Amino acid sequence: MAMATVATAQLPVYLDDSAPIEQRVEDALSRMTLDEKIAVIHAQSKFSSPGVKRLGFPDFWTDDGPHGVRPDVLWDEWEQAGQTNDSCVAFPALTCLAATWNPVLAELYGRSLGEEARYRGKDMILGPGVNINRTPLNGRNFEYMGEDPLLASRMVVPYILGLQSTGTAACVKHFCLNNDEEYRHQVNVVVSDRALREIYLPAFEAAVKQGHAWGIMGSYNLYKNQHCCQNEYTLNQILKGDWQYDGVVVSDWGGAHDTEMAVKNGLDMEFGSWTDGLAWGASNAYDAYFMALPYKRLIQEGKFTTRELDEKVRRVLRLFFRTTMSNKRARGFLCSEAHYDAALKIAQDGIVLLQNKRNVLPIDINNAKRVLVVGENAIKMMTVGGGSSSLKAQHEILPLDGIKTRLAGTGIEVDYARGYVGDTTGNYNGVTTGQSLADNRSASSLIGEAVGKAMNADYVIVFGGLNKSDYQDAEGHDRKQMDLPYGQDALVEALARVNKNVIFVNISGNAVAMPWRDKVAAIVQGWFIGSEAGKALASVLVGDVNPSGKLPFTWPVNLNDLGAHALGSYPGTWRPDHKIIDEEYKEGIYVGYRWTDKQKKRPAFAFGHGLSYTTFAISNLRLDKSEVSADGTVTATVTVKNTGNRAGAEVIQLYVSDVSGNVDMPVKELRGFQKVTLQPGESREVSITIGGRAFQYWDEGKNNWTTSLGQRTMLVGTASDNLPLKAKFTVK
Ligand code: BGC
Repeated sequence: MAMATVATAQLPVYLDDSAPIEQRVEDALSRMTLDEKIAVIHAQSKFSSPGVKRLGFPDFWTDDGPHGVRPDVLWDEWEQAGQTNDSCVAFPALTCLAATWNPVLAELYGRSLGEEARYRGKDMILGPGVNINRTPLNGRNFEYMGEDPLLASRMVVPYILGLQSTGTAACVKHFCLNNDEEYRHQVNVVVSDRALREIYLPAFEAAVKQGHAWGIMGSYNLYKNQHCCQNEYTLNQILKGDWQYDGVVVSDWGGAHDTEMAVKNGLDMEFGSWTDGLAWGASNAYDAYFMALPYKRLIQEGKFTTRELDEKVRRVLRLFFRTTMSNKRARGFLCSEAHYDAALKIAQDGIVLLQNKRNVLPIDINNAKRVLVVGENAIKMMTVGGGSSSLKAQHEILPLDGIKTRLAGTGIEVDYARGYVGDTTGNYNGVTTGQSLADNRSASSLIGEAVGKAMNADYVIVFGGLNKSDYQDAEGHDRKQMDLPYGQDALVEALARVNKNVIFVNISGNAVAMPWRDKVAAIVQGWFIGSEAGKALASVLVGDVNPSGKLPFTWPVNLNDLGAHALGSYPGTWRPDHKIIDEEYKEGIYVGYRWTDKQKKRPAFAFGHGLSYTTFAISNLRLDKSEVSADGTVTATVTVKNTGNRAGAEVIQLYVSDVSGNVDMPVKELRGFQKVTLQPGESREVSITIGGRAFQYWDEGKNNWTTSLGQRTMLVGTASDNLPLKAKFTVK
């Protein structure tokens, strides 16, 4: 049989899929002109950078992040592009993901988001965020994963792996020390090396070393007097030096400030100059970016060779081969049932039952006749607002609608009273909720109406908390105090006086003050949980889903229960020229429960706390050895039994207390955890293995991790304030 043959020209190495990526990078680099190299290291529009068209590299598209794929804005303006195919699934905010304590769901989250990003043609998602929750005032905590470095590390890694499995790059943010928003462009953080390494960096380190993140975003703030997007210490020495990071450092939008610093101090891709990513700088001349013509000129003048430039371009090319040039990428799909299911499951797993007196929850649907829902947050969309994480959700089920739908057909009457008026506007960056929430009644008449209706209700479910407006849970500013806004305290107090079954559902990404805590029956932490919010909340309130979320941060009674406030170091001290504000993290490593433990303070709700509708017994802690070498591991095993009559999940938490006396150590630190689901009566052995960093601290003298040899106590239980099982071991 005769066969036609086609002559195939030899593919250049950079286009050869089977060649090792580093060879492809070098080959592509060798073919690029100076202008092409300069072009790929800075933006060409609000969210994209050019590829190298001559060589077949397409444009590179980034987008926020981290809770869904942000709707498209115009090429050069912050206005909406007006697309009709950019509505997305809004996934729960990352605080809720962290509250699941379930790494499997973090992978599902990342993968689902990546599939949405692929459909939308985005090559990099600007997220996830892992800045440590140091103060509940931080306007952006809702986008982060709580206060504990181990929890955040364990949750961020699978998120990244899931996201990047679709060929979409993660851009882990904001590196680093961006722990509050007020004056975020001017804050110079002063922190001990030990706190930096033990508290603020581990989640980033895990993202790089275990998650193999392809992108990292520098933060706006300064550290050691250098902005973190152009920082010799954090970018060159730690990230690219110590951690051997091979991905790109992306500036936060407008985070670059100076050509020479950016060139020398580790920035690889400059975005959003002359804009803070939120508002101003509608139209820019991209050629004037710090790493555009000004850089090219310095090279032409001989101030720089192309050494730094080639190093940056190598990283960018590596990114291209991982994403836009990869043949293995997922196609992606948008707003699929699978993605809604993922969003729902994560929300249900992350909702935290904080308090449940007399087992008032779940709602007894067989006997209840009237349920009163109160509060603006029962009817307010939360996916619009909050800054760059704002979304155009295809749908968002509101709490009141979720409850009505769930209770339809049960014969239970659901009534609603507004209770308070908060912020009735609903738009962000050209996306409007279309809701009309205006209500001109006075506070006393709103409370009066709610109280009147509450008298005859079997249950009063108040949806309150914060929202995504400025100075609430929103980017760019912090809250001004921990108190609930809009007169909610008076409302709750009044309701609790007339009804013993008041359930407060707090919608927020942060702890709030609850002076009436003991007067209400139940408190549920409902987070910002996106598209399926109302459905998820209703399923937990009626008991279709047994809550299993655990707090990813310490919930203080008031601000002074935390080091940042007790020591007066927040928000910092302005220098005389009023250009820089120094914020010294005086509490050092004593953040969150590490602080409350040390001060022997009882928080309102402890880190790791979260109740269930069933009960669990944990017993019989066994260690596989009582002495372990510094480079060895020790495995703890416990028996967990569901002793109630509903299926449920519990998070077994393992903390270690270093009692060797070698060095100043927190009372205890989380070193491992595992979530287990058990049927009524079922029991299971749960084993958790620890080693390595779990035995170490950052030794400032040696400038390295050091094992503290000696005695340890292992503490195992179901919350940081409920650790009944203890065992001793020694690190030799
Ligand atoms: C935010 C980033 C965001 C960027 C782009 C900035 O203002 O800090 O988190 O990714 O804008 O929208």
